[in-house]
Amino acid sequence: MNSCYFSMFPILFLVLLSSSWATLAQSHNKFLHCLSSFHSEDSSSISKVIYTPYNSSYSSILESSIRNLRFSEPDTPKPLVIVAPLHASHIQITIYCSRKHELQIRIRSGGHDYEGLSYTSEVPFVIIDLVNFRAIDVDVENKVAWVQSGATLGELYYGIAERSRTLTFPAGVCHTVGVGGYFSGGGYGLLFRKYGLAVDNIIDAQFVDTNGRILNRKSMGEDLFWAIRGGGGGSFGIVLAWKVKLVHVPATVTVFTVSKTLEQNATKLVHLWQYVAPKLPHDIFSSISFRKVNSSQDGQRTILASFHSLYLGEVDELIPLMQERFPELGLRKEDCTEMSWIESILYFRQIQNGTMDILLDRSYKTTLVGPSFKMKSDYVKEPIPETSFTGIWSKLYDVDAEFVGISFVAYGGKMDEIPETATPFPHRAGNLYKIIYNVGWKEKDNIKSQKYLSWIRNFYGYMSSFVSKHPREAYVNYRDLDIGLNNKGNTSFEQASIWGHKYFKKNFDRLVHVKTMIDPKNFFKHEQSIPPLFS
Ligand code: FDA
Repeated sequence: MNSCYFSMFPILFLVLLSSSWATLAQSHNKFLHCLSSFHSEDSSSISKVIYTPYNSSYSSILESSIRNLRFSEPDTPKPLVIVAPLHASHIQITIYCSRKHELQIRIRSGGHDYEGLSYTSEVPFVIIDLVNFRAIDVDVENKVAWVQSGATLGELYYGIAERSRTLTFPAGVCHTVGVGGYFSGGGYGLLFRKYGLAVDNIIDAQFVDTNGRILNRKSMGEDLFWAIRGGGGGSFGIVLAWKVKLVHVPATVTVFTVSKTLEQNATKLVHLWQYVAPKLPHDIFSSISFRKVNSSQDGQRTILASFHSLYLGEVDELIPLMQERFPELGLRKEDCTEMSWIESILYFRQIQNGTMDILLDRSYKTTLVGPSFKMKSDYVKEPIPETSFTGIWSKLYDVDAEFVGISFVAYGGKMDEIPETATPFPHRAGNLYKIIYNVGWKEKDNIKSQKYLSWIRNFYGYMSSFVSKHPREAYVNYRDLDIGLNNKGNTSFEQASIWGHKYFKKNFDRLVHVKTMIDPKNFFKHEQSIPPLFS
């Protein structure tokens, strides 16, 4: 290679760069032109819901539901266009024009994707933001509801509670999470030991496929209906709305949090909990969260283990039950609070003195993660030996971050009764509990993010001998790109199997089959989308 080649390189590079910018700008303009060329009755207003970087509200719309500020940096790839549809026809048009001009679509409901997959992409892309798709229609008499994907869990809880205080939907505690992504990946919450996951309680859906067809359960067929209930968001098409079964909750529920430090025998209690919690009656939700705190002894660091529970009943029933099943915890009546189901959501969200209206606040910022964060998950099938916890605790001291924590969430109950293949979510019988790993930092510390990422990866590596193996299972709604990625551009079955079997076990193969049928050209794709065969 001669020196001339080297001297030509920057010029060549600039020419190539500017020509690729020109191509990009051209396809951007053509795409916008395509959108505005549709003038059906329904779609006349599409121009009002298109945001480009030239609109003053583009940034505020984009940032409105970025939930992980790790993906809100100036160099984070931004969409060419955001479409916030008001009608299904706006979605159909956007799909049509994106296909025509080869732009990728990212679908956003609540924006809580842990890896930012609903609002970032390495290739030129358009966001379909479902923020205007959030109608909720509750039918108390038949105990069902239709909820649009852009609604939050809080809006769904609120909508049901307005009509009935003894009906609800089994979903998560974080009320700002979007129904669209949450339902797409499974969705566990305080009632999952009693009623299963969100996806176990979905009975119909409205879906737009890659050809812009609007399908319901009957017209999409049982294979696709199976796949969209837990196969992970962003792989098959766009779910507009879901029909769900409502479930019963008593007028009074009881909550408690009992916290113990290592000096107060926390390790022994945690070890015992592994045997007790998965076998508790279905009416009890049980979890432990761990964080490092200053010990009362000489300002040393210690671990605080907080045992959290929700009981679907009154305190006078709960106390004898816990005394029989877990006397070592020493639960007392004064540790417990009776409240309504809807209040218990605020309790677990650590919202003090809040009213139900807070459930409607989509921009509510949690202190339980982030603002920037990385999370991972694991499943535990055999109790961790008591002596092994010492090593685990010591790892928690290793990093200084805004938030460092792990949580254990007990499985069992109804989860043991639902077959692994009933939905794509396979983590059912045989799991004692799930582990959630979480490291969070301030946005200004994004510059140091490698330090936090290394810490959590190292901790995850350390835990490998205590958790599920072959595959090491993970929860798809705790999206983790460390466990494997699709190839850029094209997705191969072999490569996707690496992460696919961790999220879905054997169900991955059926998901690939459904994908091949519904979207053989792989239009809906992202870094961990289900690949079609032969792509
Ligand atoms: P977002 O809009 O980012 O979508 C997530 C994924 O789904 C993306 O790939 C997106 O493209 C796709 N998608 C979104 N809408 C779609 C649609 N309509 N059709 C097709 N694809 C769509 N989980 C849980 O089970 N229990 C819990 O208690 C919690 N708690 C929790 C707290 C906090 C603070 C966070 C950040 C996350 C959770 N989660 C959780 C995880 C949560 O379930 C997961 O991140 C969901 O995918 C978030 O859904 P959103 O719609 O908010 O995200």
